[in-house]
Amino acid sequence: MSALTATAIAHPNIAFIKYWGNRDENLRIPANGSISMNLDGLFTRTSVTFSPNLKTDLLFINGKPAEQVALRRVSRFLDHIRGLAKTDWYTEVVSENNFPTGAGLASSAAAFAALSMAATAALGLKLTEQELSRIARLGSGSACRSVPGGFVEWQAGTCHEDSFAFSIAPPAHWNLVDCIAIASSGHKSTGSTEGHSLAFTSPLQLARVADTPRRLDKARRAILERDFATFAEIVEQDSTLMHAVMMTSTPPLFYWQPVSLEIMQKVSQWRAEGIPCCFTLDAGPNVHVITLSSSAPEITSRLSVIPGIQQVLQATPGGPTQLIEQ
Ligand code: DP6
Repeated sequence: MSALTATAIAHPNIAFIKYWGNRDENLRIPANGSISMNLDGLFTRTSVTFSPNLKTDLLFINGKPAEQVALRRVSRFLDHIRGLAKTDWYTEVVSENNFPTGAGLASSAAAFAALSMAATAALGLKLTEQELSRIARLGSGSACRSVPGGFVEWQAGTCHEDSFAFSIAPPAHWNLVDCIAIASSGHKSTGSTEGHSLAFTSPLQLARVADTPRRLDKARRAILERDFATFAEIVEQDSTLMHAVMMTSTPPLFYWQPVSLEIMQKVSQWRAEGIPCCFTLDAGPNVHVITLSSSAPEITSRLSVIPGIQQVLQATPGGPTQLIEQ
């Protein structure tokens, strides 16, 4: 039999209500639900080839063979898909990001969303969006949110079957722009997978999780009603709550750099001046400044001149993970 191949493209996403901590680490069942927006313009393109001639899985990221740790994570994930399709063929995975590597932008969400779709399509598995979202979650939690398009909610659930993401509004629903200020941190920070495992060592995590339904409701409603003032308030509170948990875990995780805090303070001032904007930070020093399209040029030029900011990327709401015709 000849090789089976497919290619898919997926966007990373920015969480407005964050996923931090798992109730089941192995299945990546999160401690709390989350809400995000896919980032158009940024993408990962992944080609997958299953072949009876391969003796092992191979993984290339941006033209280079991947590190062993990344290969093991991908192989383990592919084992799950091989199990579903009842095949033992090894796979060659070739993945390219169009966003700058080493810029500290989480790429696992787009990577595992694209890999899930390419691998299952190559093997001829016909899956619903919900099934694909569940599978992507096994590779990286946030990847389940990159499967559907636009504004997306991941319902935490309690087991593999009920933990998946779905779209709450299409990309065209709201003209938000994520202006991403890339701050060079100079050192590699603790990855999210390790970070999630520390979440419950913080005495604040239980309170954060218990309060999540309120934040989810507020953020969901603000998005659906395009209410920027409410949105800004809850997005910033949620980001800072997550970082409070990170900073008070054992060992503590400090992702903010001085420039990150400087931007957070500036964003508050800019909002007081009347510019619609708010900040959110993931597991790194980059600051995502969310604004409306009319203010994106102004925010971008203000961010670009801050010393310590290498680059500012802009992303509008993005579509779902998609197969690319070969
Ligand atoms: C801070 O999905 O990267 O970006 O499931 O271990 O791959 P794994 O973690 P990941 O965690 C994302 C953490 C976050 C918040 C978020 O995106 O919700």
